[in-house]
Amino acid sequence: MTPSNTSTDSSEALVLDGKATAYAVRSDVAVDAAALTAQGRAPGLAVVLVGDDPASQVYVRSKDKAATEAGFAVSTIRMSADVTQTEVESIVDQLNADDSVDGILVQLPLPRQLDSDAVVDRIAPEKDVDGLTAANVARLSMGRPGLVPCTPAGCIEILDRHGIDLSGKDVVVIGRSQLVGKPFAQLALARNATVTVCHSRTTNLAEHCRGADVIVAAVGVRELVQGDWVKEGAIVLDVGINRNDEGKLVGDVHYASAAARAAAITPVPGGIGPMTIAMLLANTLKASAARQGIQLGSPA
Ligand code: GUN
Repeated sequence: MTPSNTSTDSSEALVLDGKATAYAVRSDVAVDAAALTAQGRAPGLAVVLVGDDPASQVYVRSKDKAATEAGFAVSTIRMSADVTQTEVESIVDQLNADDSVDGILVQLPLPRQLDSDAVVDRIAPEKDVDGLTAANVARLSMGRPGLVPCTPAGCIEILDRHGIDLSGKDVVVIGRSQLVGKPFAQLALARNATVTVCHSRTTNLAEHCRGADVIVAAVGVRELVQGDWVKEGAIVLDVGINRNDEGKLVGDVHYASAAARAAAITPVPGGIGPMTIAMLLANTLKASAARQGIQLGSPA
């Protein structure tokens, strides 16, 4: 099936086009970033990359490029794989103290010798554009304003921009990670969904999914969710990025069989992936506006 967000065939799912939606978010962010720059200064984003993990390098390059295109001032700090805890923490301290830096992102995973939680928690909460510090996690769970992790925020944004309301829906989240599953569950709860969080020890996963109005698959098992797990007319968000035996990118959902039953579905690639970077920009813009004390007209 060709990704499109204008599918009209009632037997086929609406394809939630993450590339197009992310582009729209990024355009909105760029407009607001220009307004911010005119009234104060450009949003500043600092990305810390430790080591030479190939996937992390690709992600960091994409984030740098997207932020630069949105008119942000971006700096990427590269550190060798054998740095000490103290060295990484002192970089975070410097970025915390740098007034031109509004957002700090430490790309994960960090090399094994480092305590990731301690590094992340060192980030000033108002600059934590990944929403991963204990302070922002607490704010999210308490329903207080704060910065929210980018991937689950991207899931909510793609639903919002397609007019899909979670209120009263039965939502099944597969995966309980700090990056996606747990924060998405909190965001869905805040939107008045009834949320079930499933994970690797869930015994009757297929049955949970069959009862769901919305399935969010974020577990990292390729094509785990089969079409016959999907209720007719359900919404399916696929956060997985895996490679199949032919080296092709596939999600955590078996796309063709799920799309045959779903009302709407995100593809892989071109679904939630692009939304993650778009929401990083939205978070950085928000952090910058708050730090500069400037109110913007159209929050993304
Ligand atoms: N590694 C994979 N996803 C992410 C993310 O969203 N943020 C950070 N910092 N690292 C990641």
